[in-house]
Amino acid sequence: MTKLKYPQLFSKMKIGNTEFKNRIMTSGHQTTLVEDHLPTDDFVAYHTERAKGGVGLIVMEAHGVHHTGLNTPFAIDASNPKIVDIHRNTAANVHQYGGKLFAQLIHHGREAYVSEENNDVVAPSAVPTERFHIIPRELEEEEIQEIIDGFVGSAMNLKEAGLDGVEFVGSHTYLFEQFWSPAINKRTDHWGGSFENRMRFTKEVIKRVRDAVGEDFVLGMRMSLHSKDDVGTSGEESLKVIRYLHGLGELNYWSLVIGSSASYKGSSYIVPPANDSASQLFTDANQVREIIGKTPLIITSRIYAPEIAERFLQEKDVDIVGMTRALIADPHLPSKILADNEQQIIPCIACNQGCIGRYQEHLPIRCTINPVTGREKHFADVPKAARIQSFSVIGGGPSGIMAALTLAKNGHHVTLFEEKNQLGGQLNVIQGALNRDQVGNWQTYLISELKRLNVKIETGKRVTVEVLNRYQFDGVIVATGSKPLIPEKFTTNIASYSSWDVLNKEMIKEENIIVIDWKGDWPGIESAELLASQNKNVEIVSRSYGIAEAVQQYKRNKFLERMDELGVKQTPNFKLVELKKEKVVLEHLFSGRKEEREPEAIIFAVGQDASDYLAEFRKIKSHFKNVLRIGDAKSPRTLDEAVWEGFHAALKISEEKEEAKIYG
Ligand SMILES: Cc1cc2nc3c(=O)[nH]c(=O)nc-3n(C[C@H](O)[C@H](O)[C@H](O)COP(=O)(O)O)c2cc1C
Ligand code: SF4
Repeated sequence: MTKLKYPQLFSKMKIGNTEFKNRIMTSGHQTTLVEDHLPTDDFVAYHTERAKGGVGLIVMEAHGVHHTGLNTPFAIDASNPKIVDIHRNTAANVHQYGGKLFAQLIHHGREAYVSEENNDVVAPSAVPTERFHIIPRELEEEEIQEIIDGFVGSAMNLKEAGLDGVEFVGSHTYLFEQFWSPAINKRTDHWGGSFENRMRFTKEVIKRVRDAVGEDFVLGMRMSLHSKDDVGTSGEESLKVIRYLHGLGELNYWSLVIGSSASYKGSSYIVPPANDSASQLFTDANQVREIIGKTPLIITSRIYAPEIAERFLQEKDVDIVGMTRALIADPHLPSKILADNEQQIIPCIACNQGCIGRYQEHLPIRCTINPVTGREKHFADVPKAARIQSFSVIGGGPSGIMAALTLAKNGHHVTLFEEKNQLGGQLNVIQGALNRDQVGNWQTYLISELKRLNVKIETGKRVTVEVLNRYQFDGVIVATGSKPLIPEKFTTNIASYSSWDVLNKEMIKEENIIVIDWKGDWPGIESAELLASQNKNVEIVSRSYGIAEAVQQYKRNKFLERMDELGVKQTPNFKLVELKKEKVVLEHLFSGRKEEREPEAIIFAVGQDASDYLAEFRKIKSHFKNVLRIGDAKSPRTLDEAVWEGFHAALKISEEKEEAKIYG
């Protein structure tokens, strides 16, 4: 049935002599499951789980090849011979499930996060990078040779480990592209100047690696079709590079993306937020096909659902699709499609929070909506409960639903209470913002899973001790969430609302609006964006260093772009200090200088408050034995904590140990 529905996606194909069981790939993505520049057991478990879930091709994250190219303390160093034994294990695990395994080879050049250990940043020329604010050191001739040797040695290590191929990271303005770009490469020796000279480094690497690894080992090149800035290669220049490198006759495939690491603007496209669609991004991929003929072509970015993937394979003449975040969110996506269980796929919501957001904070990879991602070694296979018990979960937001689902999966009887008539809690609010439809897909998934797992759902009921007394529960999880915080009443004639009112589509009739934001996170920005898109005059005032400071960088870039386009006035570094009858008084955080505004309405996005259920929680805690409190009810934070605590509390409460009270 699925084979008929997605005939291309599940058809076999070959790159060189290597055969793939389907067309689904997880493209290179850093995991930070790395210690001493080597993958950890968590790393191996992470990829093994994806192979087990049925993916055809795993391209592991960018592996460094030389000590000057390890861009973070958590970059893998493939030139270290110790990688061989580790990846022998990774390869054996992936092959066991019929998947194929490649690794990316990279030198980041000047695009580096400087640390104590990594402060010698190199590039073809000493041209600063806008995004990392680094002035690199110009590479010496002998270092260029050393780096080429590093590519050769690393490829050989990976071949010895049993991998099926390697992919050169020619995308996103890393070292290969830094040599190509006349804006970065100012050299006057044989590595710079003419097009041929600028291509020399890449040509040398490809030729030397091919000589070393032989004909059968797959070599591919990842390339940004458009850098989306004026630094990296784009359009015609990209096609010229592809024509030249394809002409070398050594590359077995091409993998296309968009974006550049060299600029704020270009970086927004590396892991594109929900605003962009795959078909918008790759309008001219067919020009690449004309150059490379039948050489396999891979496209990645915003292909998050099987129907999008199938369309790309059929209409755009693409051979493999990268579904990277889709597989971070659900490693079992391919096997669920094959088993005709698409409604059971955990659908990535393009939040960029748990995956790339955490990478940029040097934290291990997670997925905001899947608590097992990055923790596969510990939680991929949770054993069923030895004794079936009965639990209640109070609160049907993300944290409560996650707790209920986890308990039910472990075999327990679960009753989920929700005060409102609709499940979802804050997920209902988030969807009021622009470009957040994918949160709705996740909500649909969660509700359908609750039904599939026979969780008893009671909506429209505020739970008290008396209500709980009517049942016999072995434990209670309180996940009653939070409400928007509204500062104590000031005497003012100005209409005031919370950001949730705006996102809940309450009618805001006023035209001149000020949004008072406290930390630069989504409620304030998204309500400002929504109101401005309705042609209102909007100013956002934030008690943070910068607007949208608390959201992941690529999402922040998009917000800043939209705010500027929509004419939102941005005022960071200010706080609200007084509300007069007709005026708002603001004060600069550092100088104390005051400014006044006369808006018709104020929107408060100043955090959340969990006190509504506090008294009831305390009563429940004193009446019953096994009570845990999680998510915003415990302390308002983000979706990451809500989901993780829901999952973890469900495991803890069913362990029947005293330590279960850790969340109280
Ligand atoms: C956590 C994370 C780390 C990434 N690291 C890399 C990387 O090491 N090399 C690379 O070429 N792209 C990297 N990317 C980009 C992905 O390979 C992919 O192109 C991007 O996520 C867009 O595809 P998607 O919409 O299917 O997720 C990373 C993406 C994520 C989410
Ligand atoms: S953290 Fe967000 S963007 Fe990343 S995979 Fe999970 S849902 Fe998708």
